[in-house]
Amino acid sequence: MKPASIRAVALLLALAASGLPACARRDQSPASLTNRAAEDLRLKETTVRNVTDHAITYRIHPVGKPEALETREIGPEAVDRFRTAGALEIEFNTGQKDVVYSLDPGSPYSFRYDAGTSVDLFLGSHGRADAVDLAPWVATPQPVVDRMLELAELTDKDVLYDIGCGDGRIVITAARRYGTRGVGIDIDPEKIGESEAAAAAAGLERQVRFIAMDATKADFSEATVVSLYLLPESNALMRPLLEAQLRPKSRVVSHNYAIPGWEDKEVRTETVKGENGEDHYLYLYVR
Ligand SMILES: C[S@@+](CC[C@H](N)C(=O)[O-])C[C@H]1O[C@@H](n2cnc3c(N)ncnc32)[C@H](O)[C@@H]1O
Repeated sequence: MKPASIRAVALLLALAASGLPACARRDQSPASLTNRAAEDLRLKETTVRNVTDHAITYRIHPVGKPEALETREIGPEAVDRFRTAGALEIEFNTGQKDVVYSLDPGSPYSFRYDAGTSVDLFLGSHGRADAVDLAPWVATPQPVVDRMLELAELTDKDVLYDIGCGDGRIVITAARRYGTRGVGIDIDPEKIGESEAAAAAAGLERQVRFIAMDATKADFSEATVVSLYLLPESNALMRPLLEAQLRPKSRVVSHNYAIPGWEDKEVRTETVKGENGEDHYLYLYVR
């Protein structure tokens, strides 16, 4: 997964957060309330999170409304929210240069380190302030899923946990091919719904389970195999949890990104071709 940064500048409509009244005004007629309700329905919440370890200053305004420009400072781990009907335009300095991006209304974004100490803005998974954003939804291509499961040498005695399971493909493939019991955890309830529907369609409801929750608060101590397709800093965040919960000899297979600090546990790395011939990197660890 390469997090896509947002480089195109597009049209920006309304920045509503600052404009919404705290309570309804007395002089509002039913008609204007109806208009307001219709307007509210069009608004979507765009979030900007800071996953770096320092405060970042940025400027944001609705496209076509430069007069609504706000200069904001966002501290580490904070999440800023903007309710808009259209795209937002955001400007900041990456540490190397000034950039201007357009943000889709309703999408979550994160400031993260790019190369070295330079900061960029990436699409994220969710805007919840009470949970970390481990990675945006990007599927592991099926040939890569197949190879991850081969590398982990799954059997029907294993219990596989996929941390950030997306549409459940890793857990479902393992159950279908190897008879493995599996649990998928994802913070996105829609993804959990898709996973459950896919499991039901494959007749695997009794073998697999999907849980909508923050994976950093999950108990995965029954796992004998864990799969990950998360951003590098999220692998670093998960490492102490894996060390605390997994039994010795559990296998951990990670797509594209290594687990920092687990060099001594790495037993294999491999490059696999995806559906379009692109390279994917696999890391197998034994706890
Ligand atoms: C790159 S996708 C991987 C999907 C799947 N494992 C695969 O390889 O096809 C990462 C997933 O992590 C989920 N995610 C992000 N933050 C999370 C959190 N705090 N807890 C659980 N899941 C999270 C996202 O919703 C997304 O579906």
